Amino acid sequence: MLSREDNELLTRTGRDTACGRLLRAYWQPAALVSELPAERPVKAVRLLGEDLVLFRGGGGYGLIGRFCSHRGVDLSFGRLEGDGLRCLYHGWLYDRRGHCLEQPAEPEHSRFHTKIQHVGYPCQERNGIVFAYLGGGDPPPLPGYDCFRAPDEYSFAFKGLWECNWLQGVEGGIDPSHVSYLHRFLQDDPREAYGQQFRGEVEGTGRTLSALVGENARPDIEVEPTEHGLRVFAVRALDGAQRHVRVTNLLFPNAFVVPFGPTQVFTQWHVPVDDENHYWYMILYDFAEPTDKEQLLAQRLGSCTLPDYRSTRNRDNDWGFDAAEQAALTYTGMGLDINVHDQWAVESMGRIQDRTVERLGVSDRAVTANRRLLLRAIADHQAGKTTVGMAGSEADARALTGPQAVDMIASAGDWKQRWREHDLARRQRSPWASPR
Ligand code: FES
Ligand SMILES: [Fe+2]
Repeated sequence: MLSREDNELLTRTGRDTACGRLLRAYWQPAALVSELPAERPVKAVRLLGEDLVLFRGGGGYGLIGRFCSHRGVDLSFGRLEGDGLRCLYHGWLYDRRGHCLEQPAEPEHSRFHTKIQHVGYPCQERNGIVFAYLGGGDPPPLPGYDCFRAPDEYSFAFKGLWECNWLQGVEGGIDPSHVSYLHRFLQDDPREAYGQQFRGEVEGTGRTLSALVGENARPDIEVEPTEHGLRVFAVRALDGAQRHVRVTNLLFPNAFVVPFGPTQVFTQWHVPVDDENHYWYMILYDFAEPTDKEQLLAQRLGSCTLPDYRSTRNRDNDWGFDAAEQAALTYTGMGLDINVHDQWAVESMGRIQDRTVERLGVSDRAVTANRRLLLRAIADHQAGKTTVGMAGSEADARALTGPQAVDMIASAGDWKQRWREHDLARRQRSPWASPR
């Protein structure tokens, strides 16, 4: 439960809010690279409540204020010229950082253009996503996380619109107990296996993950602070002394890292469009094999509409709820895509969850730990201190590695050692990952 003031503090992300300033201190996903096709790499983007236009030119990206500093025309219709964008109305030309270079109608020797302070943010591309830095001062280096280090062919990126506040999305991702219910299948999971997290067989058990976690709804949950945020253990008792161990992570402040099968992991950010809508962006990466991008893309495109990446199951159609399906096949009655189950859970709370009336138990300790971390980081950031997961230097960035995300069976006595060995062995076999 949060006070009304704290719920406001954690969910408001505009430019002049404390949480908005904290989120802006980290690199944030702004668009998929594929949203900027070669024919016209210009796109209107709304990010953290700011209207912006993203473009590619001269070998780099620019993310600048959407409305022209002259008289407010929409620059997302502008003309790309070299590495700049020219307004259609009177021809003001902006470079990638928002500097105004030309004002053709002004007197020939005018210096007026040097006085224009148009919004412009630095960008960089990683594994299919354009990341932007909306904070003040020089941008920090990008951490050395696996999602950024994986070679392009071993990764896959996608995004989706969720119509609720960003924090609901993050809290869903770090909540390990809901998988026993929300993602359960009443019969054998009928889906195609590739890239489907809960369909995959858990090594050494002959059982699918959905069957294993569905039978044990009371995991022991442990949360520990790390340099990247939080590490969350969910340990479920199986037969005898066997344990199912799932290690997931909060990547502070607005992402999580979870296993997606024996060799795959994904990192998923939840970044505000505004306070009532957000995009999830994910980079899936495989330690062992190149990803089948075509197949993954076809799967994801089959369940959303472009250009907004809105799920075809959404609040306007009750997420496709089907009572007969709920009785016979899936726990939710909302189809086979577990991403939709998660979407429904957090959207159904309302645009901004009223956390003054919730009741958290011990099984919610990751959610509770994250809120404490966030409240402390907001205060620290306001006081000018470094916050968790922030790379102040290249050396700091190199030290932010992993995180380790594991799904495995181990014995009750030594699982704490075995999960690390499991992760290390996977890295040692990997053509690209470095041991940590
Ligand atoms: S409104 Fe853009 S140049 Fe005049
Ligand atoms: Fe989930």
